[in-house]
Amino acid sequence: MNDFSTFSSDKIYIKGENILNGKVKISGAKNAALPLMALSLIINKDFTLYNVPDLVDTRLMSNLLIDLGINLNWKNGKIDFNGTPKREEASYDLVRKMRASILVLGPLLASRGLAKVPLPGGCAIGSRPIDLHIMVMEALGAKICFDSGFIVGSLNSDGLRGGIINFPKVSVGATESAIMTAVLAKGQTKITNAAQEPEITDLANCLNNAGADIRGEGTNTIIINGVNHLNKVEYGVVSDRIEAGSFAIASSLTMGNVEIDNINHKNLDTFLKVLEFTGSEIEVAENSIKVFSSLRPKPFDIITEPHPGFPTDLQAQYMSLMSIANGTTFIKETIFENRFMHVPELMRMGAKISVNNEEAIVNGVGKLKGAKVMASDLRASMCLILAALAASGTSEIEGVFHLDRGYENLEDKLSNLGANIKRST
Ligand code: UD1
Repeated sequence: MNDFSTFSSDKIYIKGENILNGKVKISGAKNAALPLMALSLIINKDFTLYNVPDLVDTRLMSNLLIDLGINLNWKNGKIDFNGTPKREEASYDLVRKMRASILVLGPLLASRGLAKVPLPGGCAIGSRPIDLHIMVMEALGAKICFDSGFIVGSLNSDGLRGGIINFPKVSVGATESAIMTAVLAKGQTKITNAAQEPEITDLANCLNNAGADIRGEGTNTIIINGVNHLNKVEYGVVSDRIEAGSFAIASSLTMGNVEIDNINHKNLDTFLKVLEFTGSEIEVAENSIKVFSSLRPKPFDIITEPHPGFPTDLQAQYMSLMSIANGTTFIKETIFENRFMHVPELMRMGAKISVNNEEAIVNGVGKLKGAKVMASDLRASMCLILAALAASGTSEIEGVFHLDRGYENLEDKLSNLGANIKRST
């Protein structure tokens, strides 16, 4: 097992222009696994998760849970949890490394009636406020204050009670917070303008299997009738649609033929349609897709949107494909305000891109050229890996620790498809 206690300063070297061929198995989704793992704070009987990806972020979450007093045993993608949280204060050292740590706030409150969670850190893709998480806690009866960099939540003698949560903005994390906090509250909670991402549905499915009463997940209105307790449950994490989309782009970029296995293609619907518009061919089977391409991609404009729109987590990777398109592509990022940090790095590889606030114009060039580049966040690092796979010559990618937060066994998976990729540690 890797030691993820500190972030690595590894570099990845890629010699580009190899055509990718073969089959790749997609891992469990990081963004589904993190909230599911946080459920161990409220599912106190035996709780088992399967298909958990081994990543820096899931390791951080497991360390955070252990630090809060949960017992867990993690082996070959399976985690057995048991016990109740013994502390209400989340460790600053762990929380500052991962923004998704905010997901323990509601479950800790539900379990202990008190929670102290440091203001979170994480990706550098914008200011990333937490006001909607706070709004959720207050709507469900918690009192929230801020003290020396901590969010402090407490309950009065009534405990958590159902409420109306009408989100002014769609938020994946805040919708997850609402579900996890309302599930054991007294009475009914109605969430409107809820996020509809597949990871939300995964969370609700797991909780319903444990005896919760949640309806409407996967739509914009979710109704939760609080229950007294949750039962023991075993649950498999949904596969990672962002990893799958990234491999689909790798196939298209290298004019390869890659079978992407262990996925639900419906979770990638909008993205796959876009990929087809760019000229890639896609064969869909029950649990897999094949993506192949023989021509330079055609430009196709996109705007990122909450699910079921084009996912912001594939915007950077899509930009590397459009960098070599046969024409000009307009890309608008509407979810995060600072999510074009990969642009200057792509330009070092010869891409022609101009950015104006949330809009980017990508003028396709015939070929990218390998260069030394620096990854700034998780998806930006994958964007650079993809660009390097298609570029002539060798690229050296720094800031690889971002990649380790979200892509399991990436070098092995790409090598098995024929990529020339090496890591120096
Ligand atoms: C999750 C995903 C992330 C993905 C994002 C959008 C996880 C662990 N991460 O992040 O990979 O890019 O969804 O699909 O699942 N916002 C507020 N106040 C809040 C919370 C969010 O204003 O309290 C804003 C954010 O700044 C952003 C927008 O809402 O502009 C959407 O963010 P959100 O959906 O909450 O993203 P995360 O849950 O952090």
